[in-house]
Amino acid sequence: MNNFSFLNDKPEYRAFSKDCVDAERAFQNSYDSCVKLVRTALDAAIKWVYAADKNFSPATDNLYDLIANANFERAVGKNLSDKLHFCRKAGNAAIHNEKEFSADEARACLKNLFDFVQWIDSRYGKNFSPRTFDATENILQTELCGLKLNTPIFAASGTFGFGEEFENFVDLQRLGGVMVKCITLKPRRGNDGVRITETPSGMLNCIGLENPGVEKFLADILPRIKNKMNVVVNVSGSSVDDYGRLAKLLDADGVAALELNISCPNVKDGGIIFGTDARQAAAVTQAAKKNSRKPIIVKLSPNVTDITEIARACEAAGADCLSLINTLMGMEINIHTWRPTLGNITGGLSGGAIKPVALRMVWQVANAVKLPIIGMGGIRSASDAAEFFLAGASAVAIGTANFSEPSATMKIADDLEKYLRGCGLKNIRELVKGIRI
Ligand SMILES: Cc1cc2nc3c(=O)[nH]c(=O)nc-3n(C[C@H](O)[C@H](O)[C@H](O)COP(=O)(O)O)c2cc1C
Repeated sequence: MNNFSFLNDKPEYRAFSKDCVDAERAFQNSYDSCVKLVRTALDAAIKWVYAADKNFSPATDNLYDLIANANFERAVGKNLSDKLHFCRKAGNAAIHNEKEFSADEARACLKNLFDFVQWIDSRYGKNFSPRTFDATENILQTELCGLKLNTPIFAASGTFGFGEEFENFVDLQRLGGVMVKCITLKPRRGNDGVRITETPSGMLNCIGLENPGVEKFLADILPRIKNKMNVVVNVSGSSVDDYGRLAKLLDADGVAALELNISCPNVKDGGIIFGTDARQAAAVTQAAKKNSRKPIIVKLSPNVTDITEIARACEAAGADCLSLINTLMGMEINIHTWRPTLGNITGGLSGGAIKPVALRMVWQVANAVKLPIIGMGGIRSASDAAEFFLAGASAVAIGTANFSEPSATMKIADDLEKYLRGCGLKNIRELVKGIRI
């Protein structure tokens, strides 16, 4: 449902537009919250009407009295007035936890609010155009490891900062979540020298896990971002014990899930050894599982001969989900200096160039384990994303594409929705592992 967003283009309704949009968005997460927020939006909208129209003089700011006012009731008509009382009563019941609301009841409240907003726009608006209420539910809404996702589209770690940097380009709540930049026990400066270079259809990076460390993340960053998005914390350690300690420290309010980076190719003392050895991968998974109540996502390395072996080991060790792939090891040499372009000599290749490899690996892993998979690697469009779902991913993450198009995740969500409707599907889940062989 997306019935109220048109209000955002009408600055004159600023007093109630955000409340209406928030109420509808809450429908995805909790019907009770939706009903509560409908009441808030209704209150704001009615007060706007009273302020705009001198025919109605408020004796009080009590919502019941405002709806029951004889002049107001005459203007809106008995039918709409009854609908407004319905929203008010339902909202009160939700606020006082008197009952649990169903999807149908929450939808009815939204529809009544919508009718009132239409009435306002028809009476006071400049360019009124009649609209019909769309009751179809969010076709992209899904669930992963117990997390409710508004869309199955994540931002990939290391390409999206801590999410806030993208606030002006992306509706963070609409993302399935943000896999924030990798966090380690101690702060890291990252690698020296050149850390990024463009390649045909992609890029090489050797950032080297630059990050402020877990302490600063918990104290300063998490409190700022935790209510803005599903925060998936990507972690990396130099020993099995590091992963256990990080998992324990991050078993905190506001962390939606952990993603174990056992696959970073750009640091000498971490990551990749765990991602290329099935026993080590299992040990790291177990250490995190033992120390955390959060869903544990293990991020697999493509720099292996048989990725399914590692995937199976992580599944047996208790992983809740797998994400793949991290970057492929690569390098570039400057033919004028005869030196490697990157300060670290080698780096991780990402972007469009790696998509066929990533897709092949997602398909292989989906056939090897029962765990849900977050697919990534070179996704730049909804059709790229659709391929990953067909191969067996339950969600996807977008990385390098965010650098050239900061709102790539939103465009992919919009286009994926159109694609699903075009296929006659009712939910993204129907696409998962749909590949015909
Ligand atoms: C600049 C850069 C930094 C990255 N940093 C991390 C990181 O900190 N942790 C991690 O697990 N993956 C990291 N990655 C890998 C991405 O999350 C992703 O797995 C990979 O780039 C493939 O997806 P893409 O082709 O859409 O970028 C990084 C990738 C890039 C390009």
